[in-house]
Formats: sequence, C-alpha cells, structure tokens
Amino acid sequence: LNNGLALTPPMGWSTWNVFHCDYTEEDIMEMADMLVASGMLSAGYKYLNIDDCWEASYRDPVSGMLKYNETRFPHGMLALSDYIHSKGLLFGIYSSSGERTCQNYPGSWQHEFLDAALFSSWNVDFLKLDCCYQDNIKDRATAFISWSKALLIQNRSIVYSCDSDELILNENNLEFPFQWAPEYCNMARISWDIYDEWKSTLSIIDRAANIYYASQPGYWNDLDILTVGLGKQTIEEYTSQFSLWAIMSSPLIAGNDLRIMTKEIANILTNKEVIAINQDKLGRSGNMIRRALDGSYEVWAKPIYYENISQVYDINNISRFNPLPFHGVVLLNRLNITANITLEFNDLFDHHLSPHPPTPIWTVSIRDLWLHQDLGEFVENWKAINVPAHGVRM
Ligand code: DGJ
Repeated sequence: LNNGLALTPPMGWSTWNVFHCDYTEEDIMEMADMLVASGMLSAGYKYLNIDDCWEASYRDPVSGMLKYNETRFPHGMLALSDYIHSKGLLFGIYSSSGERTCQNYPGSWQHEFLDAALFSSWNVDFLKLDCCYQDNIKDRATAFISWSKALLIQNRSIVYSCDSDELILNENNLEFPFQWAPEYCNMARISWDIYDEWKSTLSIIDRAANIYYASQPGYWNDLDILTVGLGKQTIEEYTSQFSLWAIMSSPLIAGNDLRIMTKEIANILTNKEVIAINQDKLGRSGNMIRRALDGSYEVWAKPIYYENISQVYDINNISRFNPLPFHGVVLLNRLNITANITLEFNDLFDHHLSPHPPTPIWTVSIRDLWLHQDLGEFVENWKAINVPAHGVRM
C-alpha cells in the first residue's frame, strides 16, 4: 500500500498469543511499561497492538458506533492510547471485516468509514483487520478494500494489517492475499494461525517460501505473531523462528508475556544484528535457496543493501541482478538431531536474485549473527559444524 508507511517490516507486540480474551487496561499498560524497560522499544518494537475482544458485545443502538468494553477499559480507549503514546509507543487496534469478530464481538461490516473515524479519534496508528463471520469472499474483498480507503482519508498515518484468510474474490478473480493485498495493505497474513509448536513454524515457512517476491517497501507477507517465548519450544526452535522471520522480511510482532520474559528470550527478540537483516533498506524478502534432497536441511538467503548498489542492481528490472556483495543467510537443521550443514557460496549467486557468474571462486567473509563474531574468510564454501536439532546458524 502506497501510504508512505511500512517501508521496512512493522515491529511491535500483540495481545493475542498470550492473553486471547483475558486482559484489562492494566495488563496492557504493564506491557507498555515492559516494552520500554526490556529494551524491546529501543530494538524497534514500537506498535502495541490490541487484538480481538476489546469491544463491548454490541454497537451503540442509537449512534451505531462501536463501543469498548467498560469493564476491561474503565478509563476508556483514549486514555489508554494516551498512556501508550506517552511511553513513545504507537497504538494498534483490531476489527473484523464481517458482522462479528472471530470471538463474537461486533465486526465492521458496512461500518468501515464510521469505525475508521472512531479509531482515528482514539489516535490509532495500526489496524489489524480480521475476516470472521464473512464467508462470502466477494463481500470480504469489498470490505478489505473499503477499509483501505477509509484509513487513507483519516488525518493519521495508520498501518493497515490484513488478515483475510486464504482466498478472496477481487473483481471476479479468486486471489490469494499475496496477490491482491500489496495494493491495499501494508502487510497481510499468508497462512493459518500460528501456535506454539515447531511444526507450526515449519508449516508457515513452507507456505511463505515461494511467494517471497510480493514483499517490498509498503507491503510485507506476514508470517503471523511470533511464538518466541510462549514456553512450549526449545531456545533453538525460537532462535530459528526469529531468524527465518527476519530473513523472510516478515513483520516482527512479538506475542510473549514481557513481564516474565527470561534473559534468553530477550536476547533472541532484541538481537540487533538479526533485526538489521529484517529491517534492511533494500527491502527485498529472502527465500529458500537450497533444500537437501532428503529434506534434512535448508539454506535461506536475503540480499542486503550496500551503498554502491546502483552498480549492480538494475532498479528497472528486478529479475536481473548481478551478484550482490552482502547476504543474510540462515542454515536450518530440520532434523531432530545435531547436523553439519555446508553453505556453497555459488548458491548465493544462483538463486532468484542473481544469474550464475562464470566459473567463480568465491572468497567470502562470514559473520555469525547469533555469536556476534566474525568467523573469517572462506573459499567456495563454509561448513557449519554441529548445528543443533531444529536450530540454525545465521
Ligand atoms: C484469527 C486471527 O488469525 C488471529 O491472529 C487472531 O486475531 C484471532 N482471529 C482473534 O480472534
């Protein structure tokens, strides 16, 4: 969406994974405090997003306006928004394109402009639009496009985050989110809901792998709220998820309870070198560039900006690249046991971004972004020894 926002993937925190519907304004104020105190805000997480369940059960019968739940928010939404902004954060809210939200609160169907004006009066900076209670996929397209227009006419910069499920019917074409959403949304979910298990992470990256090219400044494929720190996976699995979301230029929306975040989890979510790969200003997504025949490991890579980019990067024809000098690279061990993985440097110049150069002998400098160490210079390939089960080297 060409609204000047989300030039790099949005970063923030959402209520959904940890609270579902069980939260009050006090919980949210504590999370705002913790976003600052934990270093998350300085690492870039600036949106505090309230997901489903903030609404009262019905609209106001007279004005037709959405109402907030007064038990959850005794001081009201504007006061909460002011508190969030006073911390240097931005404020995100949620609605659904259908008659009701997924948790059966009032949705925005045919109230798009009224609701956008209300959110704007609460100084909202981010809207996530869900799609429950709307099985008619033609109506769904109408609603998602109306919301895009409704947000654009507000006198505020509002990031538009779309969660429209698999297909919608847009001008009589059945389209996946990555096909229609770049024009209307700043980010769009491309998969089913994430949950706190390793196989969920794998199923989402498998889904994202071949649709990477839709992501660009202003629109990003959304791999869903991170499960890092929810508690059911290993540190290696959380490290892998974060590395892959970074390489795929997904929005980084944390979803863990920041009040009980361990040092290990904070080290994952606030790793500035990994975040820099995600936020790189070239604004391309990475992709899988090699998969072992037996599926045991994968190599994922993302081209990274460098200042003399115009010498090698043909802006007018993104399918024609010369070898780019910098890449973010993730070596992923999908096995349940430790494994060695070799990175062939030729692969970096032989994937979707670069034509294969003639008989190359590459000398490559490697830095490990989790160890924060330069590993030295290597010729032709580099072998990662003892990559842990479900773990990565980045
Ligand atoms: C479905 C979405 O995909 C989730 O991320 C969350 O927003 C829930 N709905 C809320 O009900």
